[in-house]
Amino acid sequence: MSVLAIDAGTTGVTAVVVTTDGTIAAKGYQEFAQHFPRPGWVEHTPEEIWQATLESTRMAIAAYERTDGPPLQGIGITNQRETVVLWDRETLGSPRRAIVWQDRRTAAICQTMRTEGHEDRVAELTGLRLDPYFSGTKLRWLAEHEPHTWALVESGRYAVGTVDSYLVARMTRGLHHLTDVSNASRTLLFDLTTGDWSDELCGLFGVPRDALPEIVPSWGELARTDPRTFLGLDLPIAGIAGDQQSALFGQTCFEPGEVKCTYGTGSFILTNTGTEVVRSDAGLLSTAAWRAPDGTTTYALEGAIFVTGAAVQWLRDGLQIVGSAAETAAIASTVDSSEGVVFVPALTGLGAPHWDPHARGTILGITRGTTRAHLVRATLEAITFEVRDVIETMPGLTSLAVDGGASANDLLCSVQADQLGVPVERPKVVETTALGAAFLAGLGTGVWDSTDALRETWQLDRRFEPSAERADADAAYARWNEAVRRSRGWAEV
Ligand code: G3P
Repeated sequence: MSVLAIDAGTTGVTAVVVTTDGTIAAKGYQEFAQHFPRPGWVEHTPEEIWQATLESTRMAIAAYERTDGPPLQGIGITNQRETVVLWDRETLGSPRRAIVWQDRRTAAICQTMRTEGHEDRVAELTGLRLDPYFSGTKLRWLAEHEPHTWALVESGRYAVGTVDSYLVARMTRGLHHLTDVSNASRTLLFDLTTGDWSDELCGLFGVPRDALPEIVPSWGELARTDPRTFLGLDLPIAGIAGDQQSALFGQTCFEPGEVKCTYGTGSFILTNTGTEVVRSDAGLLSTAAWRAPDGTTTYALEGAIFVTGAAVQWLRDGLQIVGSAAETAAIASTVDSSEGVVFVPALTGLGAPHWDPHARGTILGITRGTTRAHLVRATLEAITFEVRDVIETMPGLTSLAVDGGASANDLLCSVQADQLGVPVERPKVVETTALGAAFLAGLGTGVWDSTDALRETWQLDRRFEPSAERADADAAYARWNEAVRRSRGWAEV
């Protein structure tokens, strides 16, 4: 048996077909445009996300048909979280672009709400913080700045949702408006304790509750695709999760204390905390990981780093000093060290554990001898320092399971192990986000009958042991901390 999983990420959509042994039998990928209308703003065109979903699925299905594999049982959806999408419930067209999780335009709204004394209550209800990252602040911005559009949200004509709910609406021709608990828990509108939308928070952010999707479990028969709109496919949508929770599931971190780190556009470290909401005073978020069909919710603690792979993408598209992400390891290996160059990729502010929307990208230590190789190496090192910043708040870690595109980079994994002082373990399948959605959909349709069966599919590819002297690793990390200090608050200077 097999399932189709769609990972609608920040820079592109990946579609994979996963078979019962937990391997990827076919794959398609389609990138879509990033729009930066003003410094600190990031937008996507919803229609392009949908077209990329169709194209990547078409590619995956075509490749899968050539393998003569068993028929598809269902579809799992995973997605970039927090990004807000509006669409017309009748036409499914969007009146404006999506405001992306990385977008910083709501920094002033957060500041005002903080001054008004809302921060503690918001954190208590949601497990999150007042930061531009989260959907609620973006929706309040729309209500304040685009009243004509917002009037149609209030009248019920436009639906409001995250990328998962948008895709469900498109795949079902508007029949369903739903989201899963892991996506809902990233909006600032969801009460982590009651497990439902909060009227208090909807009031605070000015969002009509009726515009929001119905919250459903993360697997089960959630909806069904309409073949007229979705490539002739008539399949149950049987799994939904935000991409980081999906990766936690794909790494089979089913027990409390199990941790993973996904290197994508950003990097996200999640620890399963079981059925208890655990709170952090060190800058980590409390979030819903998934909800079983019987209503049991599993929670996680999360360290969200905004820019890691996106920094490599900036080297490629912004500076144009590398041709592809894949060549960064070779370029960085042409030098033994970054020779004092430190790059803080706070291109969209800083997330965990610093939480500074006003921090900006900072490169220090440039000399006349600095080359692109030093900067590329400094970028890879920065990713490992950012991850260490988060792991420092999670004492007792004995190894780190990694995944995502950049985990294929051996240099990055070894420097990461050096920085953490514990082994880094890379599984055979590093498209763990998509794998997690496939696992959810497979549980929802009986392809696998238990999480134990899923666990048996996990296979180690390589274990990276720390090899650097601790003193050297710590000295480099101390320079990084100083550079972070200097990057802070820059947008306000
Ligand atoms: O919270 C943002 C996250 O969901 C984005 O993930 O994989 O697109 O970097 P990714």
